[in-house]
Amino acid sequence: MKVIYTERTQILASRIAGILGVPLGEVKRSRFPDGELYLRAPDLDSDMVIVSSILDPESFIELLLLIDTCLGKKITLVIPYMGYARQDRQFSEGEPISIRAIASALGRGVFRVLTVNIHEPSVLKYFGVPAENLSITGAVGEYIAGKAIDQPIILAPDAGARRFAEAVAAAYGWDCDHLEKTRISGEEVIIKPKQIDVSGRNVVIVDDIISTGGTLSTAAMMLAEQGAVDIRAACVHGVFSAGGYARLVRAGFSEIASSDTIERGCSLISSAPAIARAILR
Ligand code: R5P
Repeated sequence: MKVIYTERTQILASRIAGILGVPLGEVKRSRFPDGELYLRAPDLDSDMVIVSSILDPESFIELLLLIDTCLGKKITLVIPYMGYARQDRQFSEGEPISIRAIASALGRGVFRVLTVNIHEPSVLKYFGVPAENLSITGAVGEYIAGKAIDQPIILAPDAGARRFAEAVAAAYGWDCDHLEKTRISGEEVIIKPKQIDVSGRNVVIVDDIISTGGTLSTAAMMLAEQGAVDIRAACVHGVFSAGGYARLVRAGFSEIASSDTIERGCSLISSAPAIARAILR
């Protein structure tokens, strides 16, 4: 078995190869004069693991080329962060189901697919091959536990993320709740936990994705007003678009941690052990 990777998922790919004790295949990249990507992976194995998050059009094209390079081999495709997964249905007439377009293009010739905390697991069907979604709530919980926070409250930013927060909190018996938005007037909304009083408490807001950080920063400012003493954020996929990380810092988060599904300076949680275990299954 060999592990190959696209440019922006090389750290995670290296960690997975290290845990599996298998070599990383070399991938040579260059550009044609018109800017098109050229790549060559000269030393393939009959059993190939390809690791690539879908972060942007470039990483998508790079991944398509890597899959084509490996056609005819037994390909395990690991997509730690699956971009385009939030457009999982036609919300308005004339829209594509973007995840269907992306997944069906990637599944061709692949033996199986692994994703990590994909936004909506039901979209896995679009790959057209066996696909499994892994959850790293255990690693998120372990990371928070390592911080030795006194009696943390694990908060989901909304009811939809509650199951994710509960999975993080359950193993340690931490308090868990989700935030609710109540409209006070035309201009005024209040965001507070549905049941738990945060006054004097340490709070960790957890979510699958932090994108612009808008959801969490509004929540943090209100939780501080309600007396929370320390507010942290932890997520699986640190997208941090449109200045999202800085927005969270400005909102008063004392710490922001994400996983290595998207490689960031704050990627303090690793998805590699869960992915390696699944590859071996
Ligand atoms: C939404 O369903 C996701 O779970 C996140 O809550 C959302 O993507 C966060 O977006 P933002 O960081 O832009 O508020």
